[in-house]
Amino acid sequence: MSEHLLEIENLRVSYRIYAGEVQSVRGISFCLDAGEILAIVGESGCGKSVTAKSIMRLIHEPGTILPGSHIYYKGEDILTFDERRLAMFRGGECSIIFQDALTSLNPTMTVGKQIMENIRHHRNVSKARAREEAIELLKKVGLSEPERRFRQYPHELSGGMRQRVMIAIAFANRPKILIADEPTTALDVTIQAQIMDLIKKLAREEGTAVILITHDMGVVANVAERIAVMYAGKIVEQGDADSIFYQTAHPYTEILLAAVPRLDLNSEEELTAIRGTPPDLINPPAGCAFCTRCGRTMEVCLREAPEMLRLGETHQAACFLLNME
Ligand SMILES: Nc1ncnc2c1ncn2[C@@H]1O[C@H](COP(=O)(O)OP(=O)(O)OP(=O)(O)O)[C@@H](O)[C@H]1O
Ligand SMILES: [Mg+2]
Repeated sequence: MSEHLLEIENLRVSYRIYAGEVQSVRGISFCLDAGEILAIVGESGCGKSVTAKSIMRLIHEPGTILPGSHIYYKGEDILTFDERRLAMFRGGECSIIFQDALTSLNPTMTVGKQIMENIRHHRNVSKARAREEAIELLKKVGLSEPERRFRQYPHELSGGMRQRVMIAIAFANRPKILIADEPTTALDVTIQAQIMDLIKKLAREEGTAVILITHDMGVVANVAERIAVMYAGKIVEQGDADSIFYQTAHPYTEILLAAVPRLDLNSEEELTAIRGTPPDLINPPAGCAFCTRCGRTMEVCLREAPEMLRLGETHQAACFLLNME
C-alpha cells in the first residue's frame, strides 16, 4: 500500500508513571525513502529516542504505543508483527545504534563473536563463512588489524573503536534502515566527524536509509537530505534540508539554527541561545506547545494547537504565523 520504505502515521507513545501519563510522542507522521538520510532533531526530552525505539518495537512497560498508531515497513505494519517476524526485522532489515556502545555490546564476548552471532541469527551461513564476513566487516568499518580486533573484548577498545564495532554489527546483514540515535555524542570531537563520515559512506555503498537522531544542527547540515524538527512530542517542521535551512518556517527551527555552534561565539553565549524549558508532557498545553518560549505568540496560539501546513513538495510546518501569510 505504501510507496515509501517506512511510513509512520500518527504515532503516539505514552509512559504511565506515578505522577500521571507522560505523553512522550503525540501523533507524529513522517516517511523514509530507500537510501535517504533523514535527521530527527530537537532538544532533550522531545521524544526522539522514543520514536526510534518505537520503530524497533523496543517500547516496554510502563510505556505503550497507543492504538491508532501505524509504522509501515514496505506497506506492512510493524506494530502487527509477531515475534518471529520481528526477530527478522530487528538486526536484519532494520538496525539501531545508540550513543553508548559500551552498554549495547556484551562485555563477556569478543567483538568478533558478537558480529558472527548477528550474522548467523539472520542467515544460514557456516561458522567459517560468518567469521570471514565478520573480519571483512571489521576492515570495512576502518579498524586496523581486524584479525586481532576480532578476538578482543569491548573493554579493550577505545570509545571510537567500539562505536565502529557497533556499526559493523548494524551493517552485518545489509539492512534497509539504520537508526542512529546520537551515535557520536559520547565521543571526542575529532572522532565524531570520522564516525559520521563512516556511517554516511557505508549507507551510500549499501543503499541503506538512515534515521539520524541528534540535537546538533551542525551535524545535520553536513549529512541530512531531509530533516524533521521535533518539539514536545510533535513534529513542528519537516522538509528537505534546503527548505529547513533556507526557508525556515517555524520559530522553533529558527532558534535551533541560531544555536548552531559558531566560531565567533564563546560556549556561554551558545548555551543561552535557547531560553526557557519545554512544557510538561504529563499536562501538555492545549495550544501550541512552543508558545511560552516563542517571541511571536498570538492569542490563538494559547487556545489551539496548530495543524501541519503544506509549504512545498516535502516541506511542512505547524505554526499559526503561516496561516497569516
Ligand atoms: N522509561 C520511561 N519512563 C518514563 N518516561 C519516559 C521513559 N522514557 C522516556 N520517557 C519520557 O519521554 C519523553 C521523551 O523521551 P526521549 O528519550 O524520547 O527524549 P529524547 O528526545 O531522546 O531526548 P535526549 O536528547 O535527551 O536523548 C521524556 O519526557 C522522557 O522523560
Ligand atoms: Mg534520546
